[in-house]
Amino acid sequence: MLRSAFLYLSRQPQIFKFVRGNRLARQFARRFVAGETADEAIAAVAELNKKGITASLDLLGESVHTDAEARAAGKAYVDLIERIAKRGVNANVSLKLTQMGFDLSEDLCVAIVQQIVDVARANGSFIRLDMESSAYTQRTLDLFERRLYPNYPAFVGIVLQSMMRRTAEDVERAIKLKARVRLCKGAYLEPASVAFPDKADVDANYSTCMRALLERGNYGGIATHDEKLIQETAAFAKQHGIDSSRFEFQMLYGVRRDLQEQLVKDGWRVRVYVPFGTQWYPYLMRRLAERPANVAFITGNVLREMFRRK
Ligand code: FDA
Repeated sequence: MLRSAFLYLSRQPQIFKFVRGNRLARQFARRFVAGETADEAIAAVAELNKKGITASLDLLGESVHTDAEARAAGKAYVDLIERIAKRGVNANVSLKLTQMGFDLSEDLCVAIVQQIVDVARANGSFIRLDMESSAYTQRTLDLFERRLYPNYPAFVGIVLQSMMRRTAEDVERAIKLKARVRLCKGAYLEPASVAFPDKADVDANYSTCMRALLERGNYGGIATHDEKLIQETAAFAKQHGIDSSRFEFQMLYGVRRDLQEQLVKDGWRVRVYVPFGTQWYPYLMRRLAERPANVAFITGNVLREMFRRK
């Protein structure tokens, strides 16, 4: 119930307009969002790098409505990659195709993403195409496989969601292509026709896909905070002699920081997904949907901060 309510709220722009002007709400968001500017985000990455953690920066924003908005988002990513290189922090970037005009024109979207990947290649960086709702799964994979991957195999990768019934097959296809995959559970509300309604099935599918990626995949990104699955991944790697340099764990900014640091101490690679930008509201609502207890948790933090300042 609560999950659906937060996911509903994530799609209400008029609520965001109200919320963004509110200082308390911005403070609330800071737990999961590294700030509104690239400088704030890069400062957060520098802090993570000090702990031995790499990052993937995400300029928040979803579906755009005009070509100009899509081009502006593309330019912001180009600037971001150049800034990452200039500041010498260890980070790549993640982006959403709808932010690059996917819903307006596929050709426009490809042209914008190609410009970004060109700059990434010139700087030895890497672009991850985030996966959005099931309405985009096939289109995203087609665009990746036909129009991006052939020209930039080492510089662009995809995300697959274990909640989707199709994902085990998509994982096998990516393995054959030697494409880099981030495996996550999936953050969107999906119908049972395309996604497993039961968490147990989502987790079991995660385990199957994780094993395939570790054994036969190209540098899998094991993106989860699920301690059981993380332990299973580490144990599987050890049992099968899979070196820690052949994959990485990935987690979200502000989520399970204790676990992030512990994994690094244990000798594993960890990358944190660092979102930033003014469009933080839908992202924050999805994080609250995953764990409604976060509302109480963050409220507690914000109140503590306020009282400390007084
Ligand atoms: P699960 O939801 O089962 O949670 C396991 C445990 O982790 C919880 O019990 C809790 O302890 C902790 N936890 C999980 N979420 C938390 C939160 N928000 N706050 C506090 N604790 C939390 N999705 C997508 O559809 N497309 C994408 O491209 C991506 N990209 C992506 C990148 C990275 C690096 C990560 C880590 C995740 C994504 N996701 C995503 C989101 C993903 O699909 C999923 O919604 C979340 O990671 C939550 O699922 P878990 O795997 O953590 O498991």
